[in-house]
Amino acid sequence: LGTAAAVAFAGTAAAADLTVGFSQIGSESGWRAAETSVSKIEAEKRGIDLKIADAQQKQENQIKAIRGFVAQGVDAIFLAPVVATGWDTVLEEAKDAEIPVILLDRTIETSDDSLYLTAVTSDTVHEGKVAGDWLVKTVAGKPCNVVELQGTVGSSPAINRKKGFEDGIASASNIKITRSQTGDFTRAKGKEVMEGFLKAEGGGKDICALYAHNDDMAVGAIQAIKEAGLKPGTDILVVSIDAVPDIFKAMADGEANATVELTPNMAGPAFDALKAFKDSGKAPEKWIQTESKLYTQADDPMKVYEEKKGLGY
Ligand code: AHR
Repeated sequence: LGTAAAVAFAGTAAAADLTVGFSQIGSESGWRAAETSVSKIEAEKRGIDLKIADAQQKQENQIKAIRGFVAQGVDAIFLAPVVATGWDTVLEEAKDAEIPVILLDRTIETSDDSLYLTAVTSDTVHEGKVAGDWLVKTVAGKPCNVVELQGTVGSSPAINRKKGFEDGIASASNIKITRSQTGDFTRAKGKEVMEGFLKAEGGGKDICALYAHNDDMAVGAIQAIKEAGLKPGTDILVVSIDAVPDIFKAMADGEANATVELTPNMAGPAFDALKAFKDSGKAPEKWIQTESKLYTQADDPMKVYEEKKGLGY
């Protein structure tokens, strides 16, 4: 935001006085469900009134929800944008109403970055690169055909995790992506698309590794690999992103190999940035970056599973 807009959005407010509308994507994955519960917990801790609208994966529902929040005159809007494009008009409406918008976990493509106050996200290109680097190191020069399960078409993590992984394997001529298709970030679609990959690739004999843009699709694909009579984690390496409890169970069973952690606590830093902004009128950094940590089977997956279980999952 420019200084004038920042001042217009500001004005002192105790956290308890704040009402925040959150346009959430839906509940496509375990990670998403955890993000929703953690948001409620973080709001409650701060005495913030959080109104969550579940868009059931549809951008049109998110646009309607944002318009509803503007009409209600909320103090701020959190938006987890299902896809990256098509937000300018509705965000201009929020800006005209002097309601700051904070992006959570996904980014948007816009030529006007004053349409949002800040974005609390991980570096999704980096996540893909971490997964790619892990594979390069793990296969150590051996030929490796990779199948890729992409996230929701047009979403920032699907675009960026694809790019990051490709960057990670770029220097390894032994590694090739032979199939790549969307599994829409869901377990069911991950399984279904993996079944197709297995059929198309010699029953799976020609697949060395699966790269999934989230753990839920990996978990669905693991089921498909087992049903095809192969051992996930051994016959086909499995690397994915999110670090949800179920992938640690799979790692403990030797059925998944690595995951890159994405914290479900995007709302906590967003509430803090909002509160500081309301108190001071000073706009926060445009990007509040969350960490991305690699976990492998060497990281005591059962212990991590137990730790994760208590964290909103
Ligand atoms: O935007 C974050 C992604 O959305 C998570 O990695 C995925 O599980 C979710 O659906």
